[in-house]
Formats: sequence, structure tokens, C-alpha cells
Amino acid sequence: MRLVIVSNRLPFSVTKGKDGTTFKETAGGLVSGISDYLDSLKSSFSTETLWIGWPGAEIDQKDRDEVKQKSLSEFSAVPVFISEKDMDDFYLGFCNKTLWPLFHSFPAYAVYKEKFWNSYRKINNTYLDTVQELLKPGDILWIHDYHLMLLPGLVREKMPDIPIGFFLHIPFPPHEIFQFLPNRIRMEILEGILGADLSGFHINEYTQNFLRCVLRTLGYEQHIGEINLIKRIAKADTFPMGINFNKFFNAGYRINNETASPAADLGDTKKILSVDRLDYTKGIMNRLSGFELFLEKNPAWRRKVIMHLICVPSRIGVQRYRITKSRIDQLVGKINGRFGDTDWIPIHYQYKYLPLDQLSLLYSACDAALVTPLRDGMNLIAKEYIASKRDKTGVLILSEMAGAAKELQEAIIINPNSIEEIASAIKEALEKPVEEQQRQNEIMQKRLSNYDIIKWADEFLNELKAVHEERIRFHANYMNSSAKESMILKFKNAGSRIIFLDYDGTLVPFVEDPGKAAPDEEVVYLLELLKRIPRTEVVLISGRDRKTLTDWFDPLDLKLISEHGAWAKDGRGEWQLIKPLMNDWKPRLLPVVRMYADRLPGSFIEEKTFSIVWHYRKSDRELASIRVKELVDDLLQLTSNMDVQVLQGSKVIEIKNSGVNKGASALHFLLKNRYDFILAIGDDLTDEDMFMALPEDAFSIKVGDQHSNAKYNLRDYKEVRSLIEEIVK
Ligand code: UDP
Ligand code: G6P
Repeated sequence: MRLVIVSNRLPFSVTKGKDGTTFKETAGGLVSGISDYLDSLKSSFSTETLWIGWPGAEIDQKDRDEVKQKSLSEFSAVPVFISEKDMDDFYLGFCNKTLWPLFHSFPAYAVYKEKFWNSYRKINNTYLDTVQELLKPGDILWIHDYHLMLLPGLVREKMPDIPIGFFLHIPFPPHEIFQFLPNRIRMEILEGILGADLSGFHINEYTQNFLRCVLRTLGYEQHIGEINLIKRIAKADTFPMGINFNKFFNAGYRINNETASPAADLGDTKKILSVDRLDYTKGIMNRLSGFELFLEKNPAWRRKVIMHLICVPSRIGVQRYRITKSRIDQLVGKINGRFGDTDWIPIHYQYKYLPLDQLSLLYSACDAALVTPLRDGMNLIAKEYIASKRDKTGVLILSEMAGAAKELQEAIIINPNSIEEIASAIKEALEKPVEEQQRQNEIMQKRLSNYDIIKWADEFLNELKAVHEERIRFHANYMNSSAKESMILKFKNAGSRIIFLDYDGTLVPFVEDPGKAAPDEEVVYLLELLKRIPRTEVVLISGRDRKTLTDWFDPLDLKLISEHGAWAKDGRGEWQLIKPLMNDWKPRLLPVVRMYADRLPGSFIEEKTFSIVWHYRKSDRELASIRVKELVDDLLQLTSNMDVQVLQGSKVIEIKNSGVNKGASALHFLLKNRYDFILAIGDDLTDEDMFMALPEDAFSIKVGDQHSNAKYNLRDYKEVRSLIEEIVK
């Protein structure tokens, strides 16, 4: 098996200096997690890996071969070369000026420009080219993060059978915020993500937000995270990303034993750690204000505490980041000026990236860590700090807005918008008895070591394999040209033939108003030609009422079945009941369905002689999904001793007499005459009865991509029309 990772950020970025290209480490939760997981696989030798991504800068044509070679040999990575201009609109633009603020619930910071979106689509396609070039059968593809949300869908189109996973490392926003994006963009993003068999999110809240957006934007229902895409099932689930626990725990050990910690230089001074990429979502300003208020309110602590403030340069091409940096610089200057003196500087500020050994040293040496994001997908810094505490001392102050807060409940949890809460949490942390620190950290360490980065990735990949296998098992069986040819040959050689055709979704597309789905010229023409073939019976077998079918099809003189098999009509003759039916149940159920129709704007009731149909195609999708569940529940109870059945179709609920179905009505014809050739085509659940009732040697075709009782699938009504065209040729 080969695992192919695709993310925008690679674990290195390439810079060009006087002495050629140099590869530097990069920071961020995605890179930390995936690098550690891939490292763990190296020792097992059973999984080959490849990491596709952007090398962090525009690379000159002449240096590309060297960068490619070095990336592959040292990092098993393949660089995707992207020009600076494209990166401006894609990475700085749509990714970091539009999606990042929006997905972190900062809609006011989001910038919308059509050229950003166009570039996002273009670069996702650039990634597609590389993926297509490299992917082999048997590979597993795992796409990461908000930069590449269209990619799963693009790959799915080109390589329908490949297992594709997608993981979002940032929050998925609530629908009310996601709606800030124009509808066509929302739809394309969601369809893109749904190209994956499995989409993963850090916490349940983001998974639920995603599922709700899918329902509201695309109308796809879900059941325990399984989304019914009609064509196939995609799954969304929660996987809280872990860390390489042992790496940090053991680094803490090494430092305690081998290195003089900064604590030694500073006597009894307590140390508070603050380390993040410099990002406005991280709440660094609030943290500094909280520290300032703490010093103001607690003069006794002055000169006895310092804050190590590490800000890693990030996305400096985005103005919002430059503004945040200058605000932080100013506030640090103000606090140090206000409280500091020649012997004591309250905030030790570094604007740089720290490699693992230096970071571990700080984790290990600091008495408290302040992690106060205003919104953060997960936040690995919080987890790494706890894991590094070999002697289990140290206190984590953690924002409830970080995904990590769900797992680290023993920390001091604060709301980052409250400066007072931050200030008093600092005091509480510095004065917390050691035994209590150790007791709480032990619990958190156990949790972090149980669900570490390996467990996280293994669980995701195992679930991905399971969803993929299930999909392959329930694969649609598309009718290929040789199956088509042999069926047409049988048709031509047959002495007598019968063809059952469903109407809506089979011969014509679905429309919002069912009254407007009258047959167009092409369909009328094809049906006429089909009917004219000698010894061929064409039966239109529909759920529609008698009047509509009479109005639309009488001129064609076809055989008609209405209301899913309640009524039959031979050409221009009279409608006849296929079997005696009662409709005394209707007055009892109609008021119930009416009550639901009144409570769901946009829905309406169609009353047929032997059925009640509730249509909700035009209604609010989320409310419809709730009302439908409620109504089905009510109906199941009310009809338990009635001879009726409740059917859920495409945006309709139909209540009708049991035993009336398309299967029984197809048999009505098949038992009367013998046919050498039988073909049935339909798209709906109700057509499954018909497929099942047919004899073994009949041909049956499901329209759509779902697994079915039919022998073959065609994709849509257009393919049905071209099949009929070939038959009548
Ligand atoms: N990191 C690092 N050096 C630094 C700062 C951060 O290596 O100077 C790493 C840190 O160890 C962590 C990651 O960057 O694994 C930051 O991940 P987190 O989830 O906290 O935030 P993100 O940057 O992804 O928003
Ligand atoms: C977050 C994102 C990552 C990103 C990282 C660093 O963790 O989820 O996708 O790589 O920040 O940001 P950068 O813009 O430098 O890639």
C-alpha cells in the first residue's frame, strides 16, 4: 500500500541563497502531525509514502530539477511548482484572506474577490494534474486542509475508484457564517469535499457544522455522519488530532537530565510560556492584556514572573498579519515600559521560529503556558506543553475556543475575550499546589498518550478503507457499450417485446414544480418511434395521477399505469383499477399530512384516488428533513393497523395501499402474455419492486448511480434517451 498525502504546506520550504537552494523546516499543526505520523511509518516498512505540496516559494525553472530530486530523496516529497502571482491570489488571497478568517468566525476580516476564487479553482486543478500524474492503482489518497477543498471532487471525477480521504485542520464554521460565501462557491466547496469517501474534523461541533451546511446548501440528508449523495455514500466523522506524545515526553526527560534549563539562570522567577504562529486568531493581544492586568492587580508578583513570548512569523504577505504584529510589538513595549526596569523585563519577546529542541526546552522549563486562541481548530501547542512535563508539574491555561479544550478539561479553561478571566487564571496557575498540578497533568498525559498522532491517523485511515470497501461493494454497474449492443441485438431478434418506462427522473429531469414536467418534443418523438416498432408494447409506469397521464400521453396511445400501479389504461381506453382497493384510510390521514404541510412552507399535498403525496422539493432543506422524520414517525404509528404503506421518494412522501406497486402492475402484463424481450427502466425506490418482479432473463436499468436490484445503471435521463434512440435506429 502507498499513502499519498497532499497538502499545500510541505514540511520544508525552499529558499534560494548565494550557495544554491536551502531547505528550511516549516511550522504549523498540519506539518507537525503528518511529519510525525509519516516518520512512524518509516520503521514499519510496510507502507510507502509520498507527500505532494508547495515548496514554499516560487522556484526558478533552472532549480526545479534539483529541488525535485532533493525533495524526493530527503523527504519522499514531490513539489508542486506555483508562480508567485498565483500564490498571491490563491494562498494569500482566497485561502488566507477569505477562507481563514471566515472559517475562524472572523467574517469582518474576510475579503471577497472573484479573482481569488478563480485562482483557488485553478490551483486546485494544478494539484489535480500532479496527483493524476503520480497516483497508481492501490494508492490511498489523503488530502489536507482548507487550501485544497475542491481537490477531492476533482480527483473523484477523474479516478472514481480511488479511496480518498480529506481532513480539515481548521474549524468548519456554522452555516450562518459559511453563508457569507456566495451560493455557487459554497456549493462547489462542499461538492469538492464530498468527493472524499471520508472527511475528518477535529471536534464534533465542526463535523455537525459541516453536515448542516451540506444539508442546507446541497440538500443531502445524513444518518450518523453517512451522507446520502444519491450517487454514493460519503462519510463525515470526528478525529481529534493528537501529537507524538513520546517525542515530547522523552525530550522533557533529556532536558531535565542533560540541559541547564533557563530556570537555573533566573532563580525563583516563575515562567509563563506563550508560543504561536503570529496570527490574529491566536488571541495574543488578549493574552498580553491579561498579563498586564495580572501585573497591575498583583504587585507582589512583579519581578517574580516573566513571560516568554514566541511569535513565529506567518503569512506576512497578508496585511491583517502585519497589523497584528505591529499591535503586539506596541503592546509588549508598553507593558515592558510600564512595569519593567533594568533588572526585570516582564515579557521576553522573540519573533522567530524555534526548532524542536529549543521549543521542548521552553515547554519543559515554563511553570505555566498561556494558550488563548479566539478560535483554533485544535491547537497542538497546548498538547505538546502537557506532554513535555516529565515531572508532571506545570499549569496549562487554555481557551475554550480551541478544539484541544475538549480533551484537556483538567486545564484552567478560560474565555479568551475576558481579560479578567485571563488575569485571574494566571494568578491561579502560579499559585496552584504542585500535587494538584501533578494530579491533573497525569490525567491529561494519559489521554494524550492513548490517543496520539499514530492512533489518530490509523483510525482515520482504517475508517477510510472501510467506507471505500463498502462503496466498492455497492457499486453501480454501468451499462457499457458491449452490454448495450447485446441487449439491442436481443431486442431486434425477439418476436414480441415489452418495455416498462418510468417517467420522472427516467425520461425527463426532475423539476421543482411537478406540474411543469410535461414531455418535451424529443421524448414524444422517441416514444412514438418506439411504439411504432411492430410487436412492441410500451408501458409508461408512473406514480402520477390519471388526469396528468391522460392529458400528456393520450395522443401517443401508449399503455399507462398510474399511481404506482393502482390504475391501468390501454391506449385511449378507460382507466381500470388493477385490483379492488379501499381508500377509507384517507380521511383519517389527510389532516395529519395537512398539518405538516402547513408547518413546512413551500411544501404541498397532492391527493390521488388511492394515495396522498406530500411534496417538499421547494422547502427549506433543514426544516424539511426534521418535519419528514416527524411525519414518518407519526404515520408509522397511525397506520400500524391499516392496509397502507408509507414510501419516501425523491423529496416526496407517499402514503398508499399496500400491495399496490410497480412490481405487481408489471406482472399484470407479464402474466397475460408471453414476451421474448422484457426491459424495465426506472430511477426511484418504487421502481425497485418492478426490477425484482421481472423474470431472470429480463433486462432492467436503474437510472442514477446507486446500487440497485436492476442489472445495469445508466447515469441520467439523457443516457436513457440515447439508449432509446439506438433501439429505434
Ligand atoms: N512550532 C514549532 N516551532 C515554533 C512554533 C511552533 O515547531 O517555533 C510547531 C509546534 O510544535 C506545533 C505547531 O508548530 O506542532 C503549531 O501547531 P498548532 O496546532 O498549535 O497551531 P497552528 O500553527 O497549526 O495554527
Ligand atoms: C494551520 C493550517 C495549516 C497551515 C499552518 C501554517 O495549521 O491548518 O494548513 O500549514 O497553519 O500556515 P501556513 O500558511 O504557513 O501554511
